[in-house]
Amino acid sequence: MLLNVRQAVHDDVPALQEVIRASVRGLQTADYTPEQRERALEVVFGVDTQLIEDGTYFVVESEVARPHGLVIAGCGGWSKRKTLYGSDHCSGREDSLLDPQHDAAKIRAFFVHPAWARRGVGSRLLEVCEAAAAAAGFRCFEMGSTLTGVPLYRARGYVETEGREVPLGSGLSLPIVRMEKHL
Ligand SMILES: CC(C)(COP(=O)(O)OP(=O)(O)OC[C@H]1O[C@@H](n2cnc3c(N)ncnc32)[C@H](O)[C@@H]1OP(=O)(O)O)[C@@H](O)C(=O)NCCC(=O)NCCS
Repeated sequence: MLLNVRQAVHDDVPALQEVIRASVRGLQTADYTPEQRERALEVVFGVDTQLIEDGTYFVVESEVARPHGLVIAGCGGWSKRKTLYGSDHCSGREDSLLDPQHDAAKIRAFFVHPAWARRGVGSRLLEVCEAAAAAAGFRCFEMGSTLTGVPLYRARGYVETEGREVPLGSGLSLPIVRMEKHL
């Protein structure tokens, strides 16, 4: 399986949005209702272009699925900013910078296309993000994980620190789990 990891660029955004929708609709079915998933696609899940601008959002591409071009198998990133989760259209963003000496880098917006699930794409992205954050001086990483993401992060050494409910409006909310790992 030929997998290439590279930094995401703005031209990737339409393809990333497709991958994110497919990922949420295809891989979160055991954890969230259709109403939660569709509403979360509107208000929480999506591309955070600040990460693309920071050079901290990555795509995993495959040459296998489409012989005449690369397809995006998954995407994910990390952040040196305070925002814990969410896309461009998510409320409560905090774009101020973290201090690598005292703060945990944020692991952000991991989405794997269902056709590529359980083939190591999420793990590969996590390795790349942790290495880049460590190179920037961070010694601790954290994320607001979906329930779907918990097994991956547990398998990679993260521990749960608290549960949270992300408000989705219309009386709906999305349970997520804060998780962290220290080097
Ligand atoms: C969470 C997600 C990114 C995992 O990506 P992935 O590429 O399938 O993960 P990997 O193949 O690297 O899995 C590595 C390990 O994590 C664990 N794991 C991952 N998904 C799992 C699942 N659904 N059930 C149980 N264990 C799982 C396993 O230990 C797995 O190793 P194994 O396949 O050898 O047993 C993917 O399921 C996804 O995109 N989900 C929908 C979007 C989402 O909720 N993202 C999380 C945002 S915080």
